[in-house]
Order: sequence, then C-alpha cells, then structure tokens
Amino acid sequence: MELKPVKLRKYLAAVASTLSISAFAADDIPLVTIDATQSGATIHRDIYGQFAEHLGRGIYGGIWVGKDSEIDNINGFRTDVVEALRDIHVPLVRWPGGCFADEYRWRDGIGPRDQRPVRVNTHWGGVEEDNAFGTHEFFELVELLGAEAYVNGNLGTGNPREMAEWLEYITGTSKSAVVEERRNNGRDKPWKVAYFGIGNEAWGCGGHMQPDYYADLYNHFATFLKTPRGSEPRYVASGGHTTDTSWTDELSRNIQRQMDGISFHFYTLPTGEWEDKGESTGFGEEQWFSTLWQTMRMDEFIRANKKVLDKNDPEKKLGFYVDEWGTWYNPEEGREPGFLYQQNTLRDALVAAINFNIFHAHADRVHMTNIAQMVNVLQAMILTDEDKMVLTPTYHVYDLYQVFQDATSLPLEIENPRTYSVGDQSLPGISASAARGKDGKLYLSLVNLNPNQAQSIAVRVKGAEVVAASGRLVTADAMDAHNSFDSPARVEPAAYRADEDNGNLQLEVPAKSVLVVALSS
Ligand code: AHR
Repeated sequence: MELKPVKLRKYLAAVASTLSISAFAADDIPLVTIDATQSGATIHRDIYGQFAEHLGRGIYGGIWVGKDSEIDNINGFRTDVVEALRDIHVPLVRWPGGCFADEYRWRDGIGPRDQRPVRVNTHWGGVEEDNAFGTHEFFELVELLGAEAYVNGNLGTGNPREMAEWLEYITGTSKSAVVEERRNNGRDKPWKVAYFGIGNEAWGCGGHMQPDYYADLYNHFATFLKTPRGSEPRYVASGGHTTDTSWTDELSRNIQRQMDGISFHFYTLPTGEWEDKGESTGFGEEQWFSTLWQTMRMDEFIRANKKVLDKNDPEKKLGFYVDEWGTWYNPEEGREPGFLYQQNTLRDALVAAINFNIFHAHADRVHMTNIAQMVNVLQAMILTDEDKMVLTPTYHVYDLYQVFQDATSLPLEIENPRTYSVGDQSLPGISASAARGKDGKLYLSLVNLNPNQAQSIAVRVKGAEVVAASGRLVTADAMDAHNSFDSPARVEPAAYRADEDNGNLQLEVPAKSVLVVALSS
C-alpha cells in the first residue's frame, strides 16, 4: 500500500478533529480529559453484533454439530462455543449471509432434517449444504445466546412472495397455512426479528445492480413485508462500501417504504489490495502500520456517509449500520480458500478496539454493526478444530468492551497527543473512547497503536474526582501473537490498576495494547 504524505496529513488532521485533539507542548505527556458533565449518544449494544454465514466452518462444525455428535452439545449446538459467546453477551446475530443470503431458499431449512434438500453453496467453496441449520435452529441459537435476530432476506434470487412468507412464518400469530406450518414444525410462539435485511451487497454478489434499480426493488419487496402490529423489525437496505456514498444518497432519497437503516461494508486489508491482501501472521511492522491505517479509514467513511444522511434525513430517522467489518487476509496455506479461515492475532485485537472507538464516536447514527464473522470465518471470536476450541484476541476485546453496551458516550479530548510513525507516515498514537456505563460507572478505553513504545497518559475528568483506574488489558510479546489449539492462552486479558499520586491519575499503557478501565473516585 502506498500512503501519499499529503493525503495522510489531511487524514490525520481529520482524525485529530474527531478526537478533539488540541495543539500540544512537546514535553508534556498526553492528557485525556473526559467531560462527565455532558452526555452524548447512547452506544447501542447492537454495535457489538456478530455475523454467522453459511460459509466454511462458520456454522457447520463451528456452532452446529448435530445432536448425535461426539462433541459436547446442547441440542446440536456446541456447548463450548455457546458458553463462550454467552460470556461476552452477544446482543445480535446476523444470518444466513452475506452473499449466501441471496441464494438461500428458506423453505429448504424447515421440517424434518433428514428430508431437507441438499444444495450447493456456490459462493463459498462449492460444498454441499444439507440445510441441517435452518430457521428453527437459528432462532434456537439466538435464544441460547440471549441475543436478538438479524435475518437477511433473499432479494437477489428470491421473489417478494417468498420473502414475505418467510417473515410471516417467523412472526405470524394467525391461523394461516404458513403459520400453521411453523406450528407443525414444533414452534407455536412467534419469534422476534430485531432487524430484517432486504438483500445484501446489491452492488456485487447480491446482483451487481445500480443504486436506483435496487431502490425500486427495495420498494417493491418491502411493500409486501408484513408482521403483526408491534412486531415490526427494523428494515435494513443494503448500502454501499468504502468511499462510495452514492448508495446512501440514492437510498435515503428514494426509498419510500419501511426502511430503518442503510448498511455499509468495509473490510480491513493490510495491503488494501484484494489480489494480495497480506498474511494473518508473520507480518512485519510495515503491515502492522498499514493495517491500522486502513482500519482508521472507517472514521472517514462514516463521516462521508453521515454528511449525506444529515442532508437527506435531518431528523435522524435512519441508522447507518456497518453490518460487515473486520480483517480479511490471504487464505491460509493448505486450507480451502473459499472457507475464509484465518488466524487472529494481537493486531486483530487492536483493529476491533479502534473500530469500536470509532463507532462510539458516531453512535448518533451507527446503531448497529456486525463483525465478520463469529466463528471460524475472517476476524472470528472463536476458532474450532473438531472438538477443540480457542478464543481469539478479538474475543477478548469484545469481552473488555462489554461495559460499553448501552452506555452513554462522553466527550473526550486529548492534549499533547503523540503520533506513531513509520518512515514518513504517521498515525495518532492513541485511540480513545469514554462513556458512562449502564451501571453508572465511568469507563475509558485506550488503544496504544505503537508496537514499540509504552505511553504514559494523564487522565482528568470534568465533573468528577477520580483517584483510581481498574480494569483489564490485552497485550502480548509480539505483534502477531495469537492463541492456538496447543497454546490457547498466549493472548489473554490481564488485570490492570493505577492509583492517583499527588492528585494526578496517570496510566501506563504498554506498547501494542488495548486497555479498558473503570475510573473511580
Ligand atoms: O463476510 C464474507 C462476505 O463478504 C459476505 O458474504 C459478503 O457480504 C461480503 O462480500
């Protein structure tokens, strides 16, 4: 990746203004000031949503093993995976895709499992899909996790009747043939759908459409989507990606029927090139830096789309949903490239935390996001191999950031910021976010992007006297440190505490680390 210095300077200025960074005196250490007298937008818990697609071992083997499996399971769902996901309080799961959603026939996935048809998953590895995991299994999973459901409908190859009947099957309370079918399949009570997506990546695998054509199709399909009163989901229009705001513009102007938000996808590729994305492990500092640089671009993309939304939707009725994000590396050697399995390192932990801090800063519009994906695919929480399971550094960051679910964001300023430079290119040395949690406590997250230098950071809170910071830290001895089935605890959270000294609270933030602390008086 080539970073143009002028472009980068402009970018750094933009990032600095996001974080309200002011001019600094070079000799002073960075000072973070949190204004606890103000309150910003609520950090919706759905920002911490996940994505589970019929892709590789994302569902089969990773979540669903079937009741007869020798792997310990709860009614077919891996016990170890379910328990680990419960621990991080996953609020929302998106399913069945992704690209897979636009080829999915929901009727294939209901009724007795041994009678369900086999199809070929043409998007992901050309493998057989036996439809053992379908609508009932998905809703059982979200119930097991205590999460909510985000169902993505098929606009690409389906028709409005199929989509409408799926929603009726899930939410209906009448005695219609479709709802009776659900009852006959063992479920009397309707399920709740929190979000319903109408197509996916309409600009690409969802049909290679133009925004105006998709807007017409959306209006067409949405006309027929009905649920009992009070059980309407939030409807999601499939929006754009990276620098393209034309989808947000077209959809926010020309979709007239039930739309609650527009989705957006952005993946972090170390090189920025799809042909050779970069490796998940064994990288040097150049790709550490470029990966974090790419990640920081999320802020620029959200800003550009918010500008469009603020013009077309000044009342802020629409959400901006980043329903796919995360790292995407070259396929691992010896593995099926279409399964998108990749190792997950300390670098991924920082990517997750930086994205969270950006989402918090834009919580007024970004009400929901889904990392891609939950298990065994791309930037996963969990990797499995037969009966073995390992928690990734990304999982641990979700664990640390739980305190931000439904918290109230607080304004934060950084004075005397350091930059992190490689050659003549620089990034902010720190990414930070502060909020008042649902429990009333003040929380601060700090990410030290520099892999070589620890940073001392002074913390001050307007409106409260804080004397201590305690929480947890994720770091490791190497940029590509990761957990493996043989060594599952190389990257794990460690307890952290700092106390005031002479009225000053100063945090030592190790190189390449993510820290989340509660500040107490
Ligand atoms: O997450 C993997 C794929 O990436 C999804 O199926 C698709 O929507 C995106 O291109």
